[in-house]
Amino acid sequence: MPWHTLSRNSPDDPHAAFALDVLTGLSERPKQLSSKWFYDDTGSVLFQKIMDLEEYYPTDSEREIFERYGEDIAGRFSGQQLDVVDLGAGDGAKTSILLDHLKKAGVDLRYVPVDISEGAMASLEDRMKQAHPGLEVQGVVGEYVPALRWLSTNSDRPRLVLFLGSNIGNFDKPRARAFLRRIWSGLRPGDHTLVGFDMKKDIEVLLAAYNDKEGITRDFNLNLLERINRELGGEFDLQNWRHFGTYNVFSGAMESYLVSTKAQEVKIAALRQSFSFEAWEPIHTEYSYKYLPEDIESLARFTGFELCAQYSDRRDWFIDSLWRVS
Ligand SMILES: C[S@@+](CC[C@H](N)C(=O)[O-])C[C@H]1O[C@@H](n2cnc3c(N)ncnc32)[C@H](O)[C@@H]1O
Repeated sequence: MPWHTLSRNSPDDPHAAFALDVLTGLSERPKQLSSKWFYDDTGSVLFQKIMDLEEYYPTDSEREIFERYGEDIAGRFSGQQLDVVDLGAGDGAKTSILLDHLKKAGVDLRYVPVDISEGAMASLEDRMKQAHPGLEVQGVVGEYVPALRWLSTNSDRPRLVLFLGSNIGNFDKPRARAFLRRIWSGLRPGDHTLVGFDMKKDIEVLLAAYNDKEGITRDFNLNLLERINRELGGEFDLQNWRHFGTYNVFSGAMESYLVSTKAQEVKIAALRQSFSFEAWEPIHTEYSYKYLPEDIESLARFTGFELCAQYSDRRDWFIDSLWRVS
């Protein structure tokens, strides 16, 4: 196995953490499941399909940013050594554009993708090695924070930490601040981070992106219950659940739910427990917080970074913001 997997049977083990999260999340009121569990092998494939959807604009917007400004971003690292740490790398397709620009700028590169999904990591490593022959790739399978901890003891090269695709939007604003502060504290002066922010925009555009016509986002959300069935011996009958995606104008977040269409009890064998759901009771599954330009500036300041540049697409729907540890 070419990538490093953060150890099983430790507090950092994603498999044990999944069971614990399902137990606590379904015992809470309102019930919730973390969006990080969307990405088993099936979920990762479904997310790739979402990225290809016409309605799902964030991928096109961020790709456009890297095509337009990749040279400018890469020029800042010209001729240097650099570890490009890609947190929640997914399929790495947009990162690949940036790596091309970095190579052209003569950067001595090592690519360090981090992802909780082993399936995503396996195909990513193959794809990156084919697209960039000779590129040194050191994947890490695990969660962001344990992976950052592992990296801080396994590399002493300058770093560019990527947090793309609006992954930051999955955190509410206090958790986003805490997470970015955590990244800052693991970096050294002169290191950089590039964070992708999805911007506030016409609500119809947002609603369409999370409720696509083909129903791929619905399948992606429902896969969370299928994953519980597969991995924890759950007995969720998907006929009794529906996907619901809505925009909360007060918090500025797209929110996704799984809604029980009838009163039901669902057994989960591995947890040795059944969970009751009332008719129309929701399980919250995802936040995707949207930003204003001034939110990004204050977030950079608050977390200790110096803001170097903001890159946006032609429609101003997405911003990749480059920050430096000064
Ligand atoms: C929305 S996708 C974005 C992928 C890619 N960065 C992009 O912009 O296209 C999120 C990715 O982050 C990974 N992920 C989600 N939560 C994670 C966590 N807590 N730790 C590590 N990886 C995580 C998922 O497996 C998935 O591949």
